Amino acid sequence: MSGSPDKSQTNQVVRAPRGTEDLFGEKMARQQMIENAAREVFDVFGYKEIRTPVFEDIALFVRGIGATTDIVEKEMYTLAQGDETTFALRPEGTASVMRAYVEHNLFKSKKFQKFYYLGPIFRHERPQAGRMRQFDQIGVEVIGTYDPLADVETILLAAEIFRKIELGGFTIKLNSFGCPTCRAAYRTALREALRGVEAKLCANCKSRIDRNVFRVLDCKEAHCKELTADAPCIRDHLDDECREHFEKVKDGLEANGLAYTLDNRLVRGLDYYTKTIYEIAHPALGARDAICGGGRYDGLVEEVGGPPTGGVGFAIGVVPTMLALEKGGEGDGGKAAGPTLFVIAIGGEDRPFAFSLMTKVRREGISADTDFEGKNWKKVMRAANRDNAKYIVVIGPDERETGRFKLKEMSTGMETEADEAGLIQHLKNITQ
Ligand code: HAM
Repeated sequence: MSGSPDKSQTNQVVRAPRGTEDLFGEKMARQQMIENAAREVFDVFGYKEIRTPVFEDIALFVRGIGATTDIVEKEMYTLAQGDETTFALRPEGTASVMRAYVEHNLFKSKKFQKFYYLGPIFRHERPQAGRMRQFDQIGVEVIGTYDPLADVETILLAAEIFRKIELGGFTIKLNSFGCPTCRAAYRTALREALRGVEAKLCANCKSRIDRNVFRVLDCKEAHCKELTADAPCIRDHLDDECREHFEKVKDGLEANGLAYTLDNRLVRGLDYYTKTIYEIAHPALGARDAICGGGRYDGLVEEVGGPPTGGVGFAIGVVPTMLALEKGGEGDGGKAAGPTLFVIAIGGEDRPFAFSLMTKVRREGISADTDFEGKNWKKVMRAANRDNAKYIVVIGPDERETGRFKLKEMSTGMETEADEAGLIQHLKNITQ
């Protein structure tokens, strides 16, 4: 590449882009714990995985999410190829799943689908605690139904994931965004009401009154919130069908023991929503407290070229969820699990024997590890403890000669003497 300075020549450290992170160690273990818990819950609820590309045609997001949303206007990473900018890194997952649903004619072959996905999302936001420019979402989309119990199921599902990872203290905020018909009347009423305070609103809200008036209700500025505290509420403008739908969602949540709060200001940042909208918030996160957002989107499949099709879903933000777990979780937040057995060789001549013993243990499906740095065996013992190994066995000339080992449990210090078969059996008993 000509023109750009060659950093390798100067040994400068190349850093990860702002708003991105490298995951390893404890944090990676915690993220895996969340992902595994989610997969288990998806299985119980009958959801199947879908993977879509991380970049898509820009038009998909403009049409799906809405041209005047912050996500499309300000936060999309677009990809230039030669003179053309046609693709964008996905700023959310729902539009992509709808594109796949339509592209593969699923509305003909199997109209009703329950999908889940896990993967990276990209938004050019100001990085702050719990907000990144690349972050993972865990989401679901139920496509091909207008049933309010499907809305209820998705909320129950999200709550179940949080319960499983032992995150307490979250709240479920619920609202309805109506349908295009009742929303038109609400839009007019809201605009009229806001004209009265327009001059005092922040610049962003002022411009939103004409462009995307509902977003005014989502402004985080304290004085805007105060000025719009008495703004009309969308639920007072719902038509019969939307009102009935909302009542059934509330009834379903109550019947299944899930507490929620009605939130008049909840509007969501994507334009595709209809009827039910919800967010799950955690108080440990401050102003931007959403760990999950979702709702119904009955016009979205049509918007991306398919037939009229109902749908509902949510996405959990893994980064805010991890932060909530760190700050306000009830469990241990997913400690990095160590190997079941750490095999420690006293001297260099003991290493091949120790290595073979480790291999035999691994072949039984039991996690085992050993030192590869040539460290003094006492140091290795301390390292094994630090890495949360459950058991250690020390191999020296005696062990090699007699074939008898002392298996030490790290948490209790208790030792069990056994030959190779006995050692493996003991480990099998405690791991099964
Ligand atoms: P969303 O509310 O834009 O909804 O994002 C869902 C969640 O992703 C948020 O509640 C938050 O936890 C997390 N999140 C958003 N932005 C960031 C960020 N910059 N850094 C870290 N986490 C973030 C959607 O994306 C919809 N597609 C959800 C959906 C699925 N609706 C229906 N189906």
